[in-house]
Amino acid sequence: MTKKLFVKTYGCQMNVYDSQRMQDVLAPLGYQPVDDAAGADMVILNTCHIREKAAEKVFSDLGRIRKHKKAKEANGTDKMIVAVAGCVAQAEGAELMRREPMVDMVFGPQTYHRLPEMVARANRAVGRDRIIDTDFPAEEKFDHLPQQVSRQGYSAFLAIQEGCDKFCTFCVVPYTRGAEYSRPGMDIINEARQLVEKGTREITLLGQNVNAYHGDGPNGGEWTLGRLLRELSEIDGLDRIRYTTSHPRDVDDDLIAAHRDLPKLMPFLHLPIQAGSDRVLQAMNRKHDGASYREIVTKLKDACPDLALSSDFIVGFPGESDKDFEDTMQMVRDITFIQAFSFKYSPRPGTPASAMELQVPEPVKTERIMRLQALLAEQQLEFNRKCLGREMDVLLERHGKLEGQLVGKSPYMQPAHVSGLPESALGQIVRLKITEALPNSLGGELVDAPVQNRDSERKIA
Ligand code: 5AD
Ligand code: SF4
Repeated sequence: MTKKLFVKTYGCQMNVYDSQRMQDVLAPLGYQPVDDAAGADMVILNTCHIREKAAEKVFSDLGRIRKHKKAKEANGTDKMIVAVAGCVAQAEGAELMRREPMVDMVFGPQTYHRLPEMVARANRAVGRDRIIDTDFPAEEKFDHLPQQVSRQGYSAFLAIQEGCDKFCTFCVVPYTRGAEYSRPGMDIINEARQLVEKGTREITLLGQNVNAYHGDGPNGGEWTLGRLLRELSEIDGLDRIRYTTSHPRDVDDDLIAAHRDLPKLMPFLHLPIQAGSDRVLQAMNRKHDGASYREIVTKLKDACPDLALSSDFIVGFPGESDKDFEDTMQMVRDITFIQAFSFKYSPRPGTPASAMELQVPEPVKTERIMRLQALLAEQQLEFNRKCLGREMDVLLERHGKLEGQLVGKSPYMQPAHVSGLPESALGQIVRLKITEALPNSLGGELVDAPVQNRDSERKIA
């Protein structure tokens, strides 16, 4: 009998990947994904704890889910299992159970391979059996997940590394995701091959600290990320490779060489800097300074002159002075980023920075982030404008808002749309001449036949 499974994903791309794998784990039990929590047999909120707002959203959504659960269970026989997964579950599991009596199940990011067991227990229970599993189990979850991955989009995520040992003083990740772990190289290659067989053309390798990757190679020895990228590049039908999120400290020569040598590796890199002031970077325990970041960027651009960067920024870290903030602004002017995420510092319980003195007042954070975002938006628009007249390869992934429009991504992750192509162009990489540049997207016209034709078998309906 099929059952309805509603999964809502908050936060990062790793959560998107995890949600997909949870669906894979539950599929053999008859759970099929649905788009609405109303009437579902199981609801999973896969949560994010990185900033305060992300966590708050979970609690407000739980309020809505409570009503759906009541409605579903009103007849006394049906059941709706409500589960909270992900980093909020890991960080605040017990508290969450206390605060939200209707939550049946809480499990962290390292235990979702045990979901079938947990779900069976919850379904078997007469009355309620509340389950909490926020272990960091001795067994590796990846070894216990189904070997088969389900069909994904033309562009798919693949987790290769998880956890973090860097302990930036603002960040919850080392506490919620645990110690760094790299999956064996061949497991990744096999998963990538399966994705490609099922229609994927672009893979983004994921890890909290993806370039710390050091997985077992097939013949003993370790693979670095550079090596893994070379191996993945050999897969026919895989046309584009990306990886995120990187740490500047772990950009090694092998990875830089991969950017020089591998045409499938897209010339776009998300390399968080967080701040431009050495004093702040040190207080953040970032293990890099402004000069070393600049040096890495120079080396990367020497290896791959087309390379463009995106980054993450935190403003208003404890003790950040006006001068420190100006250093961040100067860094942005000097390096230039074509996309960026910037956040006001949000104290996270249990992290060293939350207990630091000299917390920056909210209005100061607001003023700084507005200035920074204005500069970053300017740089993004300027890059988009520079694309006018250029020819760019775009992987078409979905229908656009307008009738007859298809949308895909440029090598630089810019959404790009084109009109007048048949539906069968979805999943193709087409060359567009860019004729329109907006702050967040591009428009273009077809200049060429698809770069590579795909056989119909591999097409995703
Ligand atoms: N406050 C604000 N931003 C944060 N980030 C991580 N922790 C915090 C925090 N406590 C940002 C960093 C990181 C991105 C994923 O989220 O910029 O790179
Ligand atoms: Fe968090 Fe720093 Fe690790 Fe990134 S490198 S996950 S910011 S601790």
